Amino acid sequence: MDQDRVWWTHVVFEGWQERPGPRYQRLAEALLHAVDRRMVVDGARVPAERSLADALGVSRGTVVAAFEHLVGAGVLERRQGAGTFVLGRPPWTSRSDTAVASLLLRRVAATSEAIDLSFSVPAGTSHLPPIGELPLGSTFTGHGLDPFGDATLRSAIAEHLTHHQRLPTTPEQVLVTSGAQQALTLLGRALLSPSTKVIAGCPGYPGFAAAFLGADRELLPVAVDDAGVDPDAVARAAHRRGDLVLYVMPTGHNPTGAISSAARRRALLDVAAQSGITVVEDLALADLVLDPGEPAPAPLAASSDRVVVVGSLSKLMWAGLRIGWIRADPALLERVARWKAADDLATSAPAQAIAVALLEAIDDTWLHAHRRALASRRDHLVQLIGGQLPAWRTRTPAAGLSLWVELPLEHADTFVHAAAAHGVVVAPGSAACSDTRHLAGVRLSFAETLETLELAVERLASAWELHSQDVAATPREPSR
Ligand SMILES: Cc1ncc(COP(=O)(O)O)c(C=O)c1O
Repeated sequence: MDQDRVWWTHVVFEGWQERPGPRYQRLAEALLHAVDRRMVVDGARVPAERSLADALGVSRGTVVAAFEHLVGAGVLERRQGAGTFVLGRPPWTSRSDTAVASLLLRRVAATSEAIDLSFSVPAGTSHLPPIGELPLGSTFTGHGLDPFGDATLRSAIAEHLTHHQRLPTTPEQVLVTSGAQQALTLLGRALLSPSTKVIAGCPGYPGFAAAFLGADRELLPVAVDDAGVDPDAVARAAHRRGDLVLYVMPTGHNPTGAISSAARRRALLDVAAQSGITVVEDLALADLVLDPGEPAPAPLAASSDRVVVVGSLSKLMWAGLRIGWIRADPALLERVARWKAADDLATSAPAQAIAVALLEAIDDTWLHAHRRALASRRDHLVQLIGGQLPAWRTRTPAAGLSLWVELPLEHADTFVHAAAAHGVVVAPGSAACSDTRHLAGVRLSFAETLETLELAVERLASAWELHSQDVAATPREPSR
């Protein structure tokens, strides 16, 4: 199987014939466009001229002319005896924004008819409880620029954590942010010194590194299993490393949807205590524990002061609201508030007022009904994939809004592009991992309606059929 050649002919050079100009120029433009869109990364070796010419149905001379053109423009480089390589466009290819940028680019590339399953968020607002008219005049007083957040919302979040997430919290322990993404950005600034090392599970939340680590900090990736991050792997990564922060998602892991057992949580806390690790516990998905019965074990922060929590209304309510929070010791929040003020002064007051109204409008009955509805979408998607894509490996997620699927491929990126061309946008495993593990995975949201999920799986099944035929039919490029 040579996925690499399929990638080049079906993704990188896709649609080259429709471009204007002579053939060599059309090929050069298609390759340049792929470099600009980060479909081809800096340092990649382009296929040999003859095999590319055969695959594209053009003469070798045409491919040579296209490459020469790009060598002259500084986009490609020929290395004696080794082949032709992409030099890339350095200013916007920095490591820390790669995952987010590639997801957003993929979304921008999608047409309006495409079904977007790439984000782990509600598909719209129709599930929200009614909140009536906002009493704007009496709600908004003063300048509305408190970097800690509106006092009523801080109380409502504290109440929500105490009663719905088993995490006793006071309003003084809460700082409101513009989503959990900003919470991670602010915490990264407040917690990390130049020597701090950050440990996180692989696969993990694609937006974490870009938000928390900043531009040049390296992540220490550790294994994730069915119960979340492996404490033994954390202990090994922590050995003799000095100042450390560990990032975990024990109540709803993104992308797997796993919930860590009580024993796993205790083991993580033990490792953290032994190695003096500060833990960032991301509870963004903790409101969406989907199966009735035993509730998830209490958050790590309920039994340890070394744990700082980030949370969000993006998953339960609506991502466009941009309301999240940090739950931490008030002394740490003082430091965070300075970064918050520097970043955006304060979170939007109307968004905070809507968040208060939404939190006041929900109760246990609403939460149970909402979780049941999501669980039936999840089960439907698992069943559709089992029936139409039996070679895909899925595991039913216990929490969250997405399904993590492993494809029988070495690398799922090419298929992700093929799926987008068939009208379904999914998130590639390569975005969920800072190392090369889990490249075969894709993440699919099940937040859409049952009908939309059915259409999406039909499209994915036809994309898969063509893609697997292409991969099987392409001979492996000889390695040099
Ligand atoms: C685990 C996790 N943390 C944080 C975020 C960021 O969420 P927000 O929309 O609140 O910024 C997400 C969103 O996908 C997430 O899945």
